[in-house]
Amino acid sequence: MSEPIALPASFRAYVVERRDDELRRGLTTFSAEDLPPGEVAIAVEWSSVNFKDGLAARADGKVARVYPLVPGIDLAGRVLVSGDPAIAPGAAVIAHGYDIGTSRHGGFAEVARVPAGWVVPLPEGLTERDAMAIGTAGFTAGMSVAALEERGLAPGDGPVLVTGASGGVGSAAVAILASRGHEVWAATGKPEEHARLRDLGAVGFLSRDEAGGPGRPLESARWAGAVDTVGAATLPYVLRTLRIGAAVASSGNAGGAELVTTVLPFILRGVALLGMDSANLAIEPRRALWRRLATDLLPRGIDDGITEVDLDGLEAALDAIVAGEARGRWVVRVGG
Ligand SMILES: NC(=O)c1ccc[n+]([C@@H]2O[C@H](COP(=O)([O-])OP(=O)(O)OC[C@H]3O[C@@H](n4cnc5c(N)ncnc54)[C@H](OP(=O)(O)O)[C@@H]3O)[C@@H](O)[C@H]2O)c1
Repeated sequence: MSEPIALPASFRAYVVERRDDELRRGLTTFSAEDLPPGEVAIAVEWSSVNFKDGLAARADGKVARVYPLVPGIDLAGRVLVSGDPAIAPGAAVIAHGYDIGTSRHGGFAEVARVPAGWVVPLPEGLTERDAMAIGTAGFTAGMSVAALEERGLAPGDGPVLVTGASGGVGSAAVAILASRGHEVWAATGKPEEHARLRDLGAVGFLSRDEAGGPGRPLESARWAGAVDTVGAATLPYVLRTLRIGAAVASSGNAGGAELVTTVLPFILRGVALLGMDSANLAIEPRRALWRRLATDLLPRGIDDGITEVDLDGLEAALDAIVAGEARGRWVVRVGG
């Protein structure tokens, strides 16, 4: 077994702290004693900014379960210390989901410590930066496409709708579906993003209003499948326009969490609502899905929509993602 690599005596961490009703956030200096328990300490090289991170850094976000909290629901880096013989010091790894960045410190610090059972070996073919360009958003997109295909969606079946298409999950879903041969339509509130989404493989577009206005309980059956990241008024639109037997993979609430629909799409068209919860996926299917994200589910081209920030540049990205201003993804250069 490789020798452990010493943890630095101190390192930088972006911390959210709550005092009464006031939230303070910013960079501070941490030491190993500040980290939660776990068998594996990781020198974090890259993290990314997800919608949930934006919420974790807001007083009204309802995501942070402990304070102080280092947000960052995903991270990639090199193992420093490991109590698990299967995970060697020096190995390149990913960790995301479970309690990372919500109930325990996450990726916006130069060192993270996690249970060995949450560690994913970096799949061959991906760098740590690639893994965070994909990140939890790309992972959720891959999970959504895999779920739709497991339920029977196949290329050639007809148009597949992706909502919130300019965002992290949406952009990756467009890229993955298109490279697998599906006919992808993108619903977006940002017409200026059409060109980028077309480059990722979208062939048709809907405005946010078209994919979310009021409507009859059942409308013209149009979509062979859908990936919905918006919720609110958009998911009911998707349900009432899915074809007979089609499914929507629902992962997000970027537009709001309330769902007002009728049962008619379920009982008259047999449509299915597939819930996507990337945070709680068990470790073996998580590792298997990452291997697919490096191969047949690789979201080709999403690197064009990547903005790189470092720990000092996090503030603006955290605010922008909650304001719905995402255009692709932000990767965070943490160390290295
Ligand atoms: N279930 C899971 O495991 C999981 C994992 C990752 C993310 N999520 C959730 O999935 C959602 C998307 O995450 P993300 O990382 O892709 O976020 P993101 O990068 O901020 O993208 C969200 C997109 O939704 C659209 N949008 C934003 N505000 C909206 C509004 N008020 N009404 C309608 N559309 C709106 C925008 O796209 P357009 O401008 O193109 O319309 C925005 O770019 C979030 O709710 C996030 O919490 C869930």
